Order: sequence, then C-alpha cells, then structure tokens
Amino acid sequence: MTIDLSALDRALERPFDLSGRHILVTGAAGGIGSAAAAVVQEQGATVTLTDMVPEAAARARLTRVDTSSAYHQVNLADREAVEAMAAATGPVFAVIDTAGFCPQDDWTAPGWEDAYDAVLGANLVGPINLARAYLPAMVTAGEGRFALCGSVSGRMGGVACGPHYAASKGALHAFMRWLAQKGARHNVLANAVAPGSIETPMAIANGMTGDAYPQGRQGRPKEIGATLAFLCSPAAGFMSGAILDVNGATYFG
Ligand SMILES: NC(=O)c1ccc[n+]([C@@H]2O[C@H](COP(=O)([O-])OP(=O)(O)OC[C@H]3O[C@@H](n4cnc5c(N)ncnc54)[C@H](O)[C@@H]3O)[C@@H](O)[C@H]2O)c1
Repeated sequence: MTIDLSALDRALERPFDLSGRHILVTGAAGGIGSAAAAVVQEQGATVTLTDMVPEAAARARLTRVDTSSAYHQVNLADREAVEAMAAATGPVFAVIDTAGFCPQDDWTAPGWEDAYDAVLGANLVGPINLARAYLPAMVTAGEGRFALCGSVSGRMGGVACGPHYAASKGALHAFMRWLAQKGARHNVLANAVAPGSIETPMAIANGMTGDAYPQGRQGRPKEIGATLAFLCSPAAGFMSGAILDVNGATYFG
C-alpha cells in the first residue's frame, strides 16, 4: 500500500490529537477502561463503550465520559456477540481492549478448569475475537490500531495472580505480536501496555496496596489510560509489536 507521507506529517503537527477518530473501548466499566475512555475523549475521539456488565452499572463508573457515547453489553469471549457488536458499531480506527479477569482462587480445587476458561476467555479469546471482527475494515481503510492491556504478570509471572492469569497475559503479548506482523503492511498497528499494580477494583479485590512497590504507590488508572491513548495517537504511528512496561519500576523488561 502507498502511504501519504504529507498527511502523516500534518497529523504529527498535533501528535496526541485524536479528533475525528472512532475508538472502541472494552472493559469500559472497569478502572482502567473508564479512565482510557475519558482520556481518548479528552483528546477528541468519539468513543464506543463495551463491557459485560449492564449499561446502568457501566454508566455509574463512566462519570467523566460523554453520556451520549454508545454502549454495548457484550461478553468478549462470545465470538458471535463480538461479531454482532462489530456489525452494529461499523468500522473503528482503534480498539482499546482493557477487559480482563483476575480471580483469586485455588488451582488445586475441583472444577478450577471453569475459572481457567473464564480467565482465558476474557484475557485472550476476547482480544482474538475483537481482532478478527475489526481488522478487516481497518485493512480496507489502510489504517488502524489495537492497544491491548497485557500485564507485568505476562512478563515475570505476576505479584498477586494465579497461573491462569499469568499464562493468559503472556499469551496475549504473543498474540499482539502476531497481530502486529499481520497488520503492518496495511498500516494497522498493534501494541500492548503491561501495567504493574494499578489502583482499580481488580487490584483492590486482590488485596494489593502501594507499600509493596518500588515507587511506594500503585499506579493511577489514568496513567494506563493515557498510555493506551498514546498508542492510538499520531505519535505512535511508527510503533508496532511493542510492550510498554508501565509498572513503577517493579520490573525492567
Ligand atoms: N489493576 C491492575 O493492577 C492491573 C495490572 C496489570 C494488568 N491489568 C489489566 O488491565 C485491564 C483492566 O483491568 P482493571 O484493573 O481496570 O480491572 P477492572 O476489574 O476494574 O475492570 C475489568 C473490566 O473488564 C470487564 N470484563 C471482564 N471479563 C469480561 C468479558 N469476558 N467480556 C467483557 N468484559 C469483561 C469487567 O466487567 C470489568 O468492568 C485488565 O486486562 C487487567 O488484566 C490490571
């Protein structure tokens, strides 16, 4: 494909501007997802929101996001439901995927396999379903971004998570690089952020507190939301296949 370099240079005059961009944010009812939705909207994007929780519960978390933003209640592990959502939203410039599940459980317990399936469903099958549904229109448009939420646990095994979660995030990092290779010729870029402990409902449920970490605090959700917004911006136009370690010096990749 031919790249219009003068259009690229014009966009780089405002390197973090997302005006005119349509961005799908998953896990929108969560700590990082709601922060990411607010940041990309502040940078000018139109957002479409999705999470598996009912709309009213999601809206209660989305206090800083324009109430006119469309919302879809979808379990991302359900391929048909993701494809139906893609048909309803139409093409998007970027998918920011923050949906995730990190239960505290006992991997020796009978029936643990159900938890394994749920974790892999949210953290790995979901992003695969999203990419399969949204990539074709990005290829047709000649541009697109996937900004995925990995984890420090996928880099070094984790701090307060189970084996299903760590394995799912390592696999997500590998899938992101597969997607980066597939999309590159079409100007569709894929990257991930690998957060350390971030102060959200997930980390609070896991009993994490700031004292244990090198900077003496957990990350703020918006510190990850802003990184995801950067990955959708003109500034990140020559970046694909990267895992950005945003973990307060917990781990150096
Ligand atoms: N908080 C942390 O310390 C931390 C650290 C590293 C990585 N992460 C990752 O960041 C992302 C966001 O986490 P968070 O801390 O905001 O968690 P959160 O629990 O606040 O939000 C996660 C959201 O994902 C949604 N979700 C879960 N499974 C889903 C599914 N199958 N389909 C659709 N939606 C689903 C939940 O309903 C929830 O609203 C996750 O991928 C998580 O693994 C978080």
